Amino acid sequence: MSTTYKRTLVTSALPYANGPVHIGHLAGCYLPSDIFVRYKRSKGEDVMFICGSDEHGVPITIKAKKEGVSPQDVVDKYHKMMGDSFKEFGISFDIYSRTSNKIHHETASDFFKVLYDKGGFTEEITEQYYDEEAKQFLADRYITGTCPKCANPNAYGDQCEKCGSTLSATELIDPKSTLSGAKPVLKETKNWFLPLDKLQPKIQAYLDQHKDWKTNVYGQCKSWLDSGDGLQPRAMTRDLDWGVPVPVKGAEGKVLYVWFDAPIGYISATKELRPNDWELYWKDKETRLIHFIGKDNIVFHCIIFPAMLMEHGDFILADNVPANEFFKFRRR
Ligand code: MF3
Ligand code: ZN
Repeated sequence: MSTTYKRTLVTSALPYANGPVHIGHLAGCYLPSDIFVRYKRSKGEDVMFICGSDEHGVPITIKAKKEGVSPQDVVDKYHKMMGDSFKEFGISFDIYSRTSNKIHHETASDFFKVLYDKGGFTEEITEQYYDEEAKQFLADRYITGTCPKCANPNAYGDQCEKCGSTLSATELIDPKSTLSGAKPVLKETKNWFLPLDKLQPKIQAYLDQHKDWKTNVYGQCKSWLDSGDGLQPRAMTRDLDWGVPVPVKGAEGKVLYVWFDAPIGYISATKELRPNDWELYWKDKETRLIHFIGKDNIVFHCIIFPAMLMEHGDFILADNVPANEFFKFRRR
């Protein structure tokens, strides 16, 4: 859309703090955003450039278990490593924050509470695998078993790396918990879902205003909206002990889904940088919000995060979401 803006807020996808930054990520996301921001600055425009480490989610807890350290140890190590790499590479973020810090936990928790109080979630009871020895629910990645498609005995509960099939944990033959080796049992659990099905018309209207986005971005969104029954409700909480606790009675032992809290990290980082006027960047119609991301993150930035912001109210939505392929380098 051709609106005149007074300022620009640029975010770069928060990288997971479970490994070093790759050259592909630099080339696909951080370098393009840095070039854009430097150009804006050189014209004397008001521009803010936000990034930080994405420090929650299951893979970090798995890495911690494997290395015999705490998840916090893992993210401390990689947060420092990635922050240093970005500095050495000359990426000029105005802030490189992290999602394990206090301001982020408070911001994400409050955000959830606002939606919850408005009746923005549906509660659903589903059956999840539970490890009776380790006494905890098992994320799909914590379960291995035999692939029902190719018989690989070491498939994971979310996918088989041998044949590439996407799986659900209950499809595995002879499932085993990677925590204790026990055979997991199905147990009921309550989680909170964002009713994307009901929000589809609003999301559709938002995307209709942005047919100018890159074709890969607009096309992927469109195929989600147009597929089968359209958008489906999606769980925004998880039975896990690493993350932002769900701020609701009866939600002990549950945390916000990493893809719920991570994009809120853009907001908390802005608050940290500009405690007094951060709202100008997130709530004023004359601010242009742009998310630079990798192509795996399209749905979260173009559908789910905007839906969260709309339901919360007050926030502006992204005017553009440039997504690039992360380059893959292959040895020849
Ligand atoms: N950590 C995610 C990834 O590396 C990206 C998160 S972007 C944000 O794929 F919106 F969640 F911050
Ligand atoms: Zn397989």
